[in-house]
Amino acid sequence: MIDSYDRNINYLRISVTDLCNLRCKYCMPEKGIKKACHDEILRFEEIEEIAKKFVSLGINKIRLTGGEPLVRAGIITLIKKLSKLQGIDEIAMTTNGTLLKRYAKALKEAGLTRVNISLDTLNHEKYRTITKGGILKDVLEGIREAKKVNLTPIKLNVVLIRDFNEDEIVNFINLTKDEEIDVRFIELMPIGQVKDWSLNRYVSNENVLKRVPELIQIKSKDMASPAKYYKLPDGKGNIGLINPISCKFCGNCNRIRLTADGKLKACLHSNTEIDIKGLIRAGQDTTEVICNIVKHKPKEHGLEDEEYIEREMIAIGG
Ligand code: 5AD
Ligand code: SF4
Repeated sequence: MIDSYDRNINYLRISVTDLCNLRCKYCMPEKGIKKACHDEILRFEEIEEIAKKFVSLGINKIRLTGGEPLVRAGIITLIKKLSKLQGIDEIAMTTNGTLLKRYAKALKEAGLTRVNISLDTLNHEKYRTITKGGILKDVLEGIREAKKVNLTPIKLNVVLIRDFNEDEIVNFINLTKDEEIDVRFIELMPIGQVKDWSLNRYVSNENVLKRVPELIQIKSKDMASPAKYYKLPDGKGNIGLINPISCKFCGNCNRIRLTADGKLKACLHSNTEIDIKGLIRAGQDTTEVICNIVKHKPKEHGLEDEEYIEREMIAIGG
């Protein structure tokens, strides 16, 4: 599917749940979010039906996100079904990694290709603080297991937060010295009810290059990736910088999002949503709606124009 700015839209991100077993400060509001009732959330057969339609229209890459995708029961069966769709080249997942130790092997066997793991600190105490109760050891064991079963290349997503983890930039970068692991620093985005906190704690990714000037810029393998890639002179893994705030990467954007409650979003930073769940439940064909949302995918996002995303990050899927 080609949009009006000549971008090839071939990547569908599916949020399978807006629940999570952690409560990261920048993602989940203090009081939690209103729990969607059972019927508001897409059933797996509905996700499968929507994915099938997208794949028939040219999508060849799917990413499962959440909340935390591994808290939804039956996720392995969904992956098995999606991986059998004709035309799919990759099924990836973004996870907080806490349940990976238990599920990595089954995920791989079901057809998952690889995982991105969200991890903002390598310090046990700080991890507990930022996630409100998470246990770092679980994630570290999850990463090890994912590596063991070849859910690779593994990418760690690190959201940079002022006065929290700037002092760990070097430690994170050092992980790429001996391991084939990509570490990607993401600028904190002001989203949902916690937008003011996030604006306050924002740090530009330029800090990474300032702290580790020996990083060498390399060509990204994936042109549509929002990350700019670097590496240490003798490093095995890569360092990615994702700068949604200080630099726009919309020119190469290739993605469409499906939320857990059955809305299509053509851009993370736009509040426009199209209800596809209603169509599916009414037994109507979705081709036109999908083609239309692709056609009207915005050229770029407007964070600088004071346009804030209202939906909580936990309910979009990163
Ligand atoms: N800004 C930047 N990244 C965010 N994520 C969640 N909320 C935000 C935010 N406000 C990241 C998570 C995870 C991915 C799904 O999105 O850390 O890596
Ligand atoms: Fe859960 Fe990820 Fe949000 Fe943290 S950032 S609360 S792990 S969905």
